[in-house]
Amino acid sequence: MEKEEGMNLNWTLPPDAVPPRYLRDDIVMVGHHRELSYGLPRIDLGKLMDPHSRSTELYNLHSACHEWGLFLLMNHGVLDEGMRMMKENVQGFFDLPHHEKQKSAQKPGSLEGYGQAFVTSHDQKLQWNDTIFLKCHPAHARNLDLWQKNPPKFRSFGFHPFRLCHIALEKYSEDMRKMAAEVVKYIGMALGIHEGELDLLTKSFGEGKYEVRMNYYPACPKPERAIGLLPHADISGITLLTECGNIPGLQVLSKDNCWVTVPPVPGGIVVNLGQIMEVYSNGTYRAPDHRAVVNKEKERVSIATFCYPSPSLPVGPSPQLLAATGLPPIYQTLSNSGEFLQCFLSHKLDDAVPFIDTLKL
Ligand code: OGA
Ligand code: NI
Repeated sequence: MEKEEGMNLNWTLPPDAVPPRYLRDDIVMVGHHRELSYGLPRIDLGKLMDPHSRSTELYNLHSACHEWGLFLLMNHGVLDEGMRMMKENVQGFFDLPHHEKQKSAQKPGSLEGYGQAFVTSHDQKLQWNDTIFLKCHPAHARNLDLWQKNPPKFRSFGFHPFRLCHIALEKYSEDMRKMAAEVVKYIGMALGIHEGELDLLTKSFGEGKYEVRMNYYPACPKPERAIGLLPHADISGITLLTECGNIPGLQVLSKDNCWVTVPPVPGGIVVNLGQIMEVYSNGTYRAPDHRAVVNKEKERVSIATFCYPSPSLPVGPSPQLLAATGLPPIYQTLSNSGEFLQCFLSHKLDDAVPFIDTLKL
């Protein structure tokens, strides 16, 4: 993929200036979404772990994955300290002067690092965000030169305001890896998977691939004419999203095609299913379309962790699920998530057919 120079705006714009490449006429931002946040499902991980409350909470999880493909995970057990440290470091990174952030810039042909995703041409419309995207697990996949240059010596979990601190990201992504394996185990149980196949599913996420995308959405003078992140369904198994403040921006498309705001909830993590889990569930669960809108006065920062199963898990409809339901598979089976990603990347992004539909039998 060709990378363009100067893709990152220097976000010190005059208040009424939005460069034309960010102005859109193709998106109706107003009058089309409902403030339905109170209706979004909340799932309590503690209740899933407790045998006394498990079956009720599994039922809630099943309906959340079926109806929305997205829920707020509460009581998830990740310590506040690690979360706080990560949020401060991410905010600290985006607060750096442009030339400092550029030290972690994407290299030609790569999506990793600081920049914008999927910019392939000079006339393409841009999304109102900056991101830094880093591979975190397995450890050998890390490109540490992008994490930080000239690393200061960290002896304890301290906050270093000028770098995306290595230790914060390492700890955070490790917490997310453990949590994802746990959440996926319960998603599998909610789907009726058990024994050997449930172990395989859980283990494949425990040993899987984890990539973290940190998103910065500056305040935008014309929020109704720009978009933070275009509608998309994630390609992951699941995605875990942490809000760094209390500014809403994420919206999810409901089954009846309304954009619904997902509010930041203190102590909660947003879990959304990606297309790998939609395929695994043979379409029982949704990988919902979602997008990020921008705010006129306030900037917003979010951290998305994309969780993929290791190559030990074939990516196709669950054999146990097919046997239990007697239904035919609606998707073909690919050998693993690596092949799944390769197919995704070779699929044209502007193709009218969504990627997942190309896997339909
Ligand atoms: C993503 C994503 C939403 C957000 O990074 O894939 O959907 O609110 N982010 O930042
Ligand atoms: Ni997404």
